[in-house]
Amino acid sequence: MSGEYQRPVAAAGGLRLHLNENTAGCSPRVLEAIRSLGAEDMAFYPDYDQVVRETAAYLGVPEAWVLLTNGLDEGILAATVASAQAGVIGGGTGLRPESVVPQPAFDMYGVCTGAVGGVVVEVAPREDLQFPVDAVLDAVRPATRLVFVTSPNNPTGVRVKLDDIARVADAVPPGALVFVDEAYHDFCGDTAVPLLSTRPNVIVGRTFAKGHGLAALRAGCVVARPETLAPLRRVVPPYSLNVCAAAGLRAALQDAGYLRWYVDQVHTSREMVYRTCERLGLRCWESGANFVLVRIGDRAAGLVARLAERGVFVRDRTGDPGCAGCVRITAGVVEHTERCLSAMEDILCGAP
Ligand SMILES: Cc1ncc(COP(=O)(O)O)c(C=O)c1O
Repeated sequence: MSGEYQRPVAAAGGLRLHLNENTAGCSPRVLEAIRSLGAEDMAFYPDYDQVVRETAAYLGVPEAWVLLTNGLDEGILAATVASAQAGVIGGGTGLRPESVVPQPAFDMYGVCTGAVGGVVVEVAPREDLQFPVDAVLDAVRPATRLVFVTSPNNPTGVRVKLDDIARVADAVPPGALVFVDEAYHDFCGDTAVPLLSTRPNVIVGRTFAKGHGLAALRAGCVVARPETLAPLRRVVPPYSLNVCAAAGLRAALQDAGYLRWYVDQVHTSREMVYRTCERLGLRCWESGANFVLVRIGDRAAGLVARLAERGVFVRDRTGDPGCAGCVRITAGVVEHTERCLSAMEDILCGAP
């Protein structure tokens, strides 16, 4: 997809299991930290020294390897702008910068590529929706500036092997970047950060929206070697995180117990979805994220509508490449998952 991002319809009230959000809300310590801010904190430009230091320690990398962003969306935009400017592409060659985007994919890759006048090179999904490494390698060309790898992927939850990411990083032209989007890292622990020492063309993107529940505060970061981050630092505005986001992020990172609790809820919820699918004879994909993609078949759109009538919102993904008949269900708070699965079973097994 390129063009404007289509914000999903906001669900008023009800159970929001359609946007991969943390439906438990953030840690209470985040609210305390924001409440403790004073009038001057609002009036002065924020200082990021402490929050950068603490984020780097949390990620286990040097401070110079971290760039905080206004949500991971801004990191994706910065990488797209920076990569489009790198190298000689467009300099009289007539080539437009290309982003390789394995499908199905998070919409913002296409939106950002379109915004810089680039071309999205879509890589068709495999039938099993696993990462199509060979097809991605085939799609890499001299005009490739950026390859997006999402692990775990959204909307499938499928994880990408580190070896496959390394193969892609070794195959891209000089100056091109491999953006490893780890928005859902918290729920599986996979990370490409260890690759950064040997592959300077890799950038890892993280968000604190999901596990830490800061989606509305907007806090994310990109992690890469300093020379790789330098062009992105020229794109991201100097005060991109507001003072509430910076204070909230520090508090969230300090509350390891909250994150452990929520990740545990996600793991239990995912298993519940798998078991329900098995019982109902539905195909679903093993997920490393806080959601599960389930193939409902012809009744997918009807199921989404009937769940919505009961105040349970899940996401219709039937239009995504490779996802015919599929819905994506956020698997977070166990009690929320129970409510959703029970309504789903009722609708699918009840009278037509
Ligand atoms: C794969 C992926 N990347 C990035 C983001 C955006 O994260 P943020 O809310 O921090 O901008 C999302 C949000 O859902 C996502 O699914």
